[in-house]
Amino acid sequence: MKKILVIHGPNLDSLGKRETNIYGRVTLKQINQKLLSLAQKNKVSLKILQSNHEGEIVDAIGKAKGKFDCILINPAAYTHTSVAIRDAVSASGLPTIEVHLSNIYSREEFRHNSLIAPVASGQICGFGLNSYILGLEAAINLIKK
Ligand code: DQA
Repeated sequence: MKKILVIHGPNLDSLGKRETNIYGRVTLKQINQKLLSLAQKNKVSLKILQSNHEGEIVDAIGKAKGKFDCILINPAAYTHTSVAIRDAVSASGLPTIEVHLSNIYSREEFRHNSLIAPVASGQICGFGLNSYILGLEAAINLIKK
């Protein structure tokens, strides 16, 4: 069975309570439930991780090669700052899909730049929970090719 590593970056553990005007009321638990049920339907397995720590995310990506077929990641604030996560994605050689709940291009200017996007297979943003669903569908399509 193909395996996908799902990574949620910093502060996403507070979804549902955090800036609901931007991120809505959906919780991380609800997102994960949707992802797991879509994965089950498509007969792929998921490992889901949330971390507020850059190094922990770097470690998880570093260990993913050979164990996972694809990465689905919302790097959250690290999207805009983390050369370390970008380098880890690039070094892993794994197809990686970047997702964001909000449309980062319609927000503050510092969010317009993603350090991850140039080394990702693609990016989906602006659709709330659906960004994750579309991202997982893209990941499944990539690994089933
Ligand atoms: C986010 C967008 C980032 O700019 C922000 O720092 C987040 C969440 C999103 O999913 O919309 O924490 O990645």
